Amino acid sequence: MAIPDAFLDELVSRTDIAELVGGYVRLSKKSGANMFGICPFHSEKTPSFSINSEKQIYHCFGCGKGGGAIGFVMEIENLPFRDAVEVLARRAGMTVPEEAGQVEVANRRRRLIELNRDAARHFHTMLSSSLGASARDYLVQRGISKASATRFGLGAAPDNWTILFDAMLKKGYKKAELVEAGLCRPGRGGEGAYDFFRDRLIFPVIDVRGNVIAFSGRILGDGEPKYLNSPDTVAFSKSRNMYALNFAKNSKAGNLLLVEGNIDVVTLHQAGFDSAVAPLGTAFTEQQARLMATYTENIIIAFDPDEAGKKATLRVLPLLEATGKNVKVVDLGASGDPDDFIRKRGVDAFRALLKHGESQIDYRLITISKGHDMQTDEGRLSYLAKATDLLAEINSIPEREIYTSKVALAAGVSVDSIKNEITRKVRTKSKARAKTREKEVMRPRVNIQPKGRELRYENESSAVAEEGIIRCIMRDSTLIKVISEKGFAHSEFTSKFLEKVYLILEKRLSEDREINEAQVSSELEPNEASEFMRIMRKPESLPDSDNRVRSYIEKIRTEKLRTHAPDTDTLLEIKRLKETYGGHKG
Ligand code: GTP
Ligand code: MN
Repeated sequence: MAIPDAFLDELVSRTDIAELVGGYVRLSKKSGANMFGICPFHSEKTPSFSINSEKQIYHCFGCGKGGGAIGFVMEIENLPFRDAVEVLARRAGMTVPEEAGQVEVANRRRRLIELNRDAARHFHTMLSSSLGASARDYLVQRGISKASATRFGLGAAPDNWTILFDAMLKKGYKKAELVEAGLCRPGRGGEGAYDFFRDRLIFPVIDVRGNVIAFSGRILGDGEPKYLNSPDTVAFSKSRNMYALNFAKNSKAGNLLLVEGNIDVVTLHQAGFDSAVAPLGTAFTEQQARLMATYTENIIIAFDPDEAGKKATLRVLPLLEATGKNVKVVDLGASGDPDDFIRKRGVDAFRALLKHGESQIDYRLITISKGHDMQTDEGRLSYLAKATDLLAEINSIPEREIYTSKVALAAGVSVDSIKNEITRKVRTKSKARAKTREKEVMRPRVNIQPKGRELRYENESSAVAEEGIIRCIMRDSTLIKVISEKGFAHSEFTSKFLEKVYLILEKRLSEDREINEAQVSSELEPNEASEFMRIMRKPESLPDSDNRVRSYIEKIRTEKLRTHAPDTDTLLEIKRLKETYGGHKG
């Protein structure tokens, strides 16, 4: 057991959820033990996020997310279980007891960061040596000053197979460590090793705490692959970090400027736009959106104006929008990426562009209108169809009205003529949304597999229902009565892990003990606890939970029948089930 039960108990009892949540959400409107606020997990205009001080839980009636203090910190700070406990412990003035395994991971991480720092120094030294001439030339060609190179700790990986490997061995690092860091690759047949980055310009990736966690290497000129990036390690997760956020988070600009390329970032900072950041070579993630949102109220997207950049903009928008921050999009026109733009049109032009950047709705409306010939009736009609779809998605009524008049103007029709259409679409949308949520609970579109392979679900559809049962009981322990009412046995769980969790709940309840997330987690292995907390944070609508548990059980049983070749007993059972639930849609 990673963290002792008693410790978690103490931690949770020392934490006041209202005070904790109050640090993120303005809570008001007391009704009984409940307080309400605007949900930090989805974008909304009226408060549907509630805190129950008696039960010490939160629940959002809008998006369905809910849980206890630890789960809240995991969700909002985007942290694994252990780290969330760490955060709460710090608040409560407690020290988390470390387990041997944890100490080991922490040590490995420390050692890797040390190695990365030494490697970064090596690359940076190479940049001013005779072996760094071609990288220096490239910097000159791209207009990157010496001062910028120093500030960003840029470096050179010379055209050589083992120069870094040799230098790091000399410093006392082991081959295995260099391979783990992704800086070297093992040689053929396991002999020796060779450098991963060769003949490249090196960008160290530094996290917000100032640790060198990874590297990006750009080819010096044209060629493939243009960039090489470090793999994920114990010290680095691509999807949870941003290039240059370590600088941008301290910017006085009052925004974060999201661009595509590392080069763009460096040249923008050099030109005084020190709030520029970039994703790390992979598709922008939800975690990165939340990471950005923790540092600013205003996010400006300035992706390359080519097709790929436009597509990326439309993909990134909803992720950033979901953070509830102000999001603007800058259209660079035909002037290439931000780096090219500044070079061609100058710093002032770029500053003006940032100031007048379009809101994301404007951007989308323009994108829609560009796809239609507004000179023909046909074109205008199909523009209206798409544009009213978009208008129906706007939650704020004044905002919707403003854009409605813009669309009406663009299509040359009266506002009144499209108002009804929009109202109709708003209604259908909210109905559809409720339906999808219902459906997703039973048949998720997203991957529901646990993070760790060892916890893998054999039958995903059944596991969804099994997770649901656990969530329901956790939120309302009296629901365990439905389990006995339906004669459900723990052996019916298809996932051993979920069965284990269920047994913990059952045991605790039979002993008349309390169940909360912290206590249950304490009886699980760390990887299981993380997974358990993730399950607990998934949406579950509270009302009518009796029936929900019933339909989960039903789902588990029909899944079992579906996946097992029916023998006589089973056929009889199918018949019985059909009689019991005949006509009920699954
Ligand atoms: P320039 O073309 O010199 O302006 O480079 P850039 O830094 O602006 O990069 P670009 O806009 O072409 O690409 C944006 C980002 O995508 C880069 O900074 C890299 O993080 C990533 N990227 C580009 N090419 C590759 C590649 O071949 N492999 C990987 N893994 N990532 C790439
Ligand atoms: Mn670029």
